[in-house]
Amino acid sequence: MEEKKSILTGIRPTGNLHLGHYFGAVGNWVKAQNEYETFIEIADVQALTDNFNNPDKVRKNVRELTLDLLACGIDPNKATIFIQSMIPEIAELTVYYSNLVTVARLQRNPTIKTEIAQKKDIFGQSGESLTYGFLGYPVSQTADITALGGTLVPVGEDQLPLIEQCREIVRKFNSIYGDTLSEPEHLLSQIPRLKGLDGNEKMGKSLGNAIFLVDDEETIKKKVMEAKTDANKIHKDDPADPRRCMVDYYHKLVSKDNLKTIEDECKQGKRGCVACKKELVANMINFLKPIQEKRRYYMENPKEVDKILQNGTKVAKKKAEATMSKVKKAIKIDYFGE
Ligand code: TRP
Repeated sequence: MEEKKSILTGIRPTGNLHLGHYFGAVGNWVKAQNEYETFIEIADVQALTDNFNNPDKVRKNVRELTLDLLACGIDPNKATIFIQSMIPEIAELTVYYSNLVTVARLQRNPTIKTEIAQKKDIFGQSGESLTYGFLGYPVSQTADITALGGTLVPVGEDQLPLIEQCREIVRKFNSIYGDTLSEPEHLLSQIPRLKGLDGNEKMGKSLGNAIFLVDDEETIKKKVMEAKTDANKIHKDDPADPRRCMVDYYHKLVSKDNLKTIEDECKQGKRGCVACKKELVANMINFLKPIQEKRRYYMENPKEVDKILQNGTKVAKKKAEATMSKVKKAIKIDYFGE
């Protein structure tokens, strides 16, 4: 029987979601949930690999992230949201997979290399404080993916080496223990990385240029008014090039209805930057309004959120248990049957 393709993706609970997450990832998952069986993992175990000394942060953000996901339109009737640490089978699989990957291969993984370099405060200048847990998180991510039978994994470009690593482990497993696991494929997002209003190539919390889904009107206004515009435009009625302007870049995302007018007026010098930014502020607030309203609903109904997480985790755990028993059988450690 041909199985319905399923999607598995994960996100670390380390902070609130911003527009970069929305346009680069979560917005796509909202569409995907109509087409595929969709699993979204709140990757608290992975978050702990570099936040092991900050459990309060991870715990708080499991809830915040769930609210953000539901606010964006992840529908618990269509998608399964679950908590990684509540599925011990994932940790168990990680142990067996860790035999199938060399330390050298993990150290060469480009995603891991970049992240270690970015986390000097935790892992030291030359990585001398690198932990076994962090180095090994691609192995536990392989367990995430295979436990749920995720054949499609939506990720950004920076995560591709992790999917490749997963495929290698799966192939090795199958070649030693027999055909048991299926190799996942990645699903690249259309807007892999949203630029910051400051013109930075990436919007990010640590870059200080993020517009969070929970930002209020004043905060949005403050951030947009500081956005980078075409440097050649000095006076209000100078013509300018929208392609050099971050305000236009964001109008493209949230002001679709009158984008043409906005760009024509800009090119013709009929639109001052301040007015243009004010329009963007209004449109962005409008764009975020339904998201924030939905978030408020769930915030006021915490029991409903608990249920969503508990039910989702139950569904995911059943799948993981089935994978675990296949894996145990393959490795011949199914001593007394099930
Ligand atoms: N590594 C991903 C990130 O940092 C999060 C993640 C955890 C994930 N488990 C996953 C992504 C499984 C895809 C599939 O964003």
